[in-house]
Amino acid sequence: MAIEEEKKNRAIELGVTQTGRPVSFSIDEPTHIAIQGMTRSGKSATTYYFLSELAGHRGVEIHFLDITTLLAAPFNEVGASGLSATGTRDADQYLTVLETLLKRMNSRIDELSALKRDKIQSFSPAYPLQVVVIEELPSLVCWLEDEDKVSGRKPAERNTPRFISMLRQLLAQGLKVGVMCLLIAQRFDAAVISGPARSNLGLRICLRVDDRDAVAMLFSDATSNHVDAIVSAPPGCGFLSSPTQRLAKVRLNYREYADYRSRVEACVHPNIDEHATRAQSR
Ligand SMILES: Nc1ncnc2c1ncn2[C@@H]1O[C@H](COP(=O)(O)OP(=O)(O)OP(=O)(O)O)[C@@H](O)[C@H]1O
Ligand SMILES: [Mg+2]
Repeated sequence: MAIEEEKKNRAIELGVTQTGRPVSFSIDEPTHIAIQGMTRSGKSATTYYFLSELAGHRGVEIHFLDITTLLAAPFNEVGASGLSATGTRDADQYLTVLETLLKRMNSRIDELSALKRDKIQSFSPAYPLQVVVIEELPSLVCWLEDEDKVSGRKPAERNTPRFISMLRQLLAQGLKVGVMCLLIAQRFDAAVISGPARSNLGLRICLRVDDRDAVAMLFSDATSNHVDAIVSAPPGCGFLSSPTQRLAKVRLNYREYADYRSRVEACVHPNIDEHATRAQSR
């Protein structure tokens, strides 16, 4: 009973299906998440809800690759311990964050055989779940491509293919050692989320989009009834599939930005060690 209660506390309720079944995300059974939807469909509001709930849990570290800067801002302003690359001033920072996370993932994988385990599913402050949030992934990739062109980089030196390759490695290998991605897009791009990368996306959410092809990017089995419902869905409503939930109509929980900010401020504790080190080095 106590274990059940503890497990329940480590679950975040994302919303409810049309038949009234709650849909939740469990910190101890993480999966990569993809959220897709056109502008004003409710992607950010859902993400604000999820991240502010996640931020209150011990044993979770949240990292951002956020071209908009708005999603990461509340975490960065309180000095949260996660890594962060934001805005469009510097492309290299996005590569540096992914490189660091990939190294972290690989050293955790190296430790697995010493631990005689094939995966880790128990997270704590000493071994936190690493959540990598990528806001507007296709826009970020487009901007990296433009930046490669403008900088006149030779093919072997370009940031974009390295970025995509590292992301695909995180998607393919991360879950067994507690590295999960939350990818957000108005419309996922097959060139970035190719077949194998897509099959690693366990929890898929599609809010309102404007055509069948966008729906098919996440749900290859969608029927014309599904498509009709998605193209006319109100904000925060759409379809979801997960390892424990077949494709179903959902209404998602949401939070406004001001509430997101204040909740993050209230529950994220700055990385004291990092602050002390920074202060000493001044
Ligand atoms: N689950 C929901 N229930 C009711 N209203 C919602 C829900 N989610 C979002 N909304 C409303 O819809 C508006 C647009 O949502 P949001 O800003 O999250 O869209 P978005 O998909 O992130 O758009 P963009 O791509 O332009 O950033 C919000 O201001 C909010 O009031
Ligand atoms: Mg948004």
